[in-house]
Amino acid sequence: MTQDRNQRFGGKVAIVTGAGMGIGEAVARRLASEGAAVVIVDFDEDAAKKVTADIDALGQKAVAVIGSVSVASDARRATKMAEEEFGGVDYLVNNAGVVIYGEVPEFKEEDWDTVVDTNLKGQYLMSKYAIPSMRSRGGGAIVNLASVQALISQREVAAYAASKGGIVSLTKTLALDHAKDNIRVNSVLPGSVRTPMLRHAAELAPGDPEATVAQWGRLHPRGTVIEPDEIANVVVFLLSDEASAVTGAPYIVDAGLSAQSAF
Ligand SMILES: NC(=O)c1ccc[n+]([C@@H]2O[C@H](COP(=O)([O-])OP(=O)(O)OC[C@H]3O[C@@H](n4cnc5c(N)ncnc54)[C@H](O)[C@@H]3O)[C@@H](O)[C@H]2O)c1
Repeated sequence: MTQDRNQRFGGKVAIVTGAGMGIGEAVARRLASEGAAVVIVDFDEDAAKKVTADIDALGQKAVAVIGSVSVASDARRATKMAEEEFGGVDYLVNNAGVVIYGEVPEFKEEDWDTVVDTNLKGQYLMSKYAIPSMRSRGGGAIVNLASVQALISQREVAAYAASKGGIVSLTKTLALDHAKDNIRVNSVLPGSVRTPMLRHAAELAPGDPEATVAQWGRLHPRGTVIEPDEIANVVVFLLSDEASAVTGAPYIVDAGLSAQSAF
């Protein structure tokens, strides 16, 4: 029997972190619409509950876990919820992330810890608890959200860029360590994506935030920023069996941003 492509994640269970808005929300909605039961992890309770209720209202499966990926007990609770509600974990999308701007001499130590603990330690903690559950089900797949800032950079993002570079490296090691468990691990490196995070960054710049986002769009060869669904397309491909030969790979999804030179 051929697989119904629209329900290719039927019977599967996915944890998506930072799924209350932005890229994580787009990924969670897509996975649910293609048949997966989704655990929505976010520390923004209202946002997590809204996405969960919307998915539920469509007759699809989701539960919310309110907590922080950088807190071990919360990360453990996400896997426990997946096991209790849906029987285990097949997929993990480590998407939750934050950015704080500033040059290193003025950058507060607690801000460094917030950025690195959320973006990098959070992926370690979520993987630590989810991998044994995947293993017990015969395998799975993980996608870690990094950024083109792992490869190219801008000013005042030292902690963010360092955390994103770390994610690309973490991903490669996880891929090697867990190939034997039939678990594939890949990273996705987006350019500028139209999300609340980008909007917040635009609001910090002088002038009209919409004009700033449009200006950032023009830095991409096609002239516009990326939509969250365009990132979700690649994330679900990497989770799917169609990506069976892809592991340890940093997938650049930046609409050509990093292909350019300064000429
Ligand atoms: N938007 C972009 O232009 C862009 C570009 C490259 C990479 N990324 C990366 O993609 C990912 C998603 O970005 P986005 O733009 O959708 O962000 P966003 O700020 O719009 O949404 C992030 C979500 O994560 C949640 N979150 C933050 N810290 C958390 C924590 N400790 N525990 C649980 N939930 C937490 C927030 O509440 C929010 O719902 C991030 O890792 C980000 O670094 C974004």
